[in-house]
Amino acid sequence: MNQDIARDIKGNPVTSGLPMAMLAELTHRCPLSCPYCSNPLELTRQAAELSTEEWASAFRQAAELGVLQVHLSGGEPASRRDLVDLVKAARDAGLYVNLITSGIGLTEARLRELDEAGVDHVQLSLQGVNAEMADWIGGYKGGFNRKMQVAQWIADIGFPLTVNAVVHRQNVDRLPEMIAMAEDLGARRIEVATVQFHGWAERNRKTLMPTYEQSLEARRIVNEARERLRGVMVIDYVPPDHHAKFPKACMGGWGSTGLNIAPDGSVLPCHAAQTITGLKFDNIRDLPLAEIWHKGSAFNAFRGTAWMPEPCQSCERRDIDFGGCRCQAMAMAQDPTLTDPVCSRSPFQAQLHAMAEADSQSGDTELVYRTMPKEARP
Ligand code: SF4
Ligand code: FES
Repeated sequence: MNQDIARDIKGNPVTSGLPMAMLAELTHRCPLSCPYCSNPLELTRQAAELSTEEWASAFRQAAELGVLQVHLSGGEPASRRDLVDLVKAARDAGLYVNLITSGIGLTEARLRELDEAGVDHVQLSLQGVNAEMADWIGGYKGGFNRKMQVAQWIADIGFPLTVNAVVHRQNVDRLPEMIAMAEDLGARRIEVATVQFHGWAERNRKTLMPTYEQSLEARRIVNEARERLRGVMVIDYVPPDHHAKFPKACMGGWGSTGLNIAPDGSVLPCHAAQTITGLKFDNIRDLPLAEIWHKGSAFNAFRGTAWMPEPCQSCERRDIDFGGCRCQAMAMAQDPTLTDPVCSRSPFQAQLHAMAEADSQSGDTELVYRTMPKEARP
């Protein structure tokens, strides 16, 4: 077999396009402990994180490869003392810089430095509409009040703002207030994202799984608010997968437009890819980013459509949703090469619906908080 030809998991030759966006998970350290976090259960310690210079090189390589925007994320990116330098490096590379933050760890002075360094846009997470809910979900007392203060500074400085509201069974009934709060904060956009059950969220399925009725109501509220706020604020909505007929086009197709760099330099086709056993992830410390993107076995594993099983292979939607989410197939069917189990054409869908229904009716309120290895806590 010619080793220069990139091949998918079945050995079919594949071609790669160019990535547009990169998620840079600067650190797994975070003051919050959200139980819906999609970070892996094995969190990276500070000592293993890429250095400032290694990240700067990653940003330059990404821009050369075709990436236009970088999302600085974590964990909490503000846990990196060198965040301002990292922003400067990303900007110097010519990237549009989006900062995804809980707000905790940011002061007004630091936000002004970040503004000068070149942050183009801020995404602020919202765990609830009051201290009682937000501090419970975030596992951080005083977090809500702090976040409101940070939101005020963000508005004063004039950053374009998106509010990220992860919704689940415990908070989705307050969705109208979340939308109103985003409006009050001057957000241009709110992303209402139903929790995705990867990483820590998978451990909290019984407590977080929304009921079917809640999902219907959430969609109604989103549609109504979209009408009312047309021209004022955009509402993005990620509905619950478990009640859907067809899967989402996760990552817009594996290895097609986006990539993710984990805190230790592992380059991943999606943020949850490390849950897929059997894939080998290259590290930017060892190989150039372009080589990893075009030739890396993990990126090529599910590229294109030739790797697909039936029913995807002969399905008219295969170029629309790309067979759905590989990590979900792994989590729910223990096989990443299968049709996403949320698809109505998957033989696993009935089982998945039964599980989602049982979880949503469990009445559980216990949370398993995301925890760092002790010596790595900020
Ligand atoms: Fe998408 Fe595959 Fe389902 Fe068709 S069978 S809708 S391609 S997941
Ligand atoms: Fe990994 Fe969907 S989250 S492919």
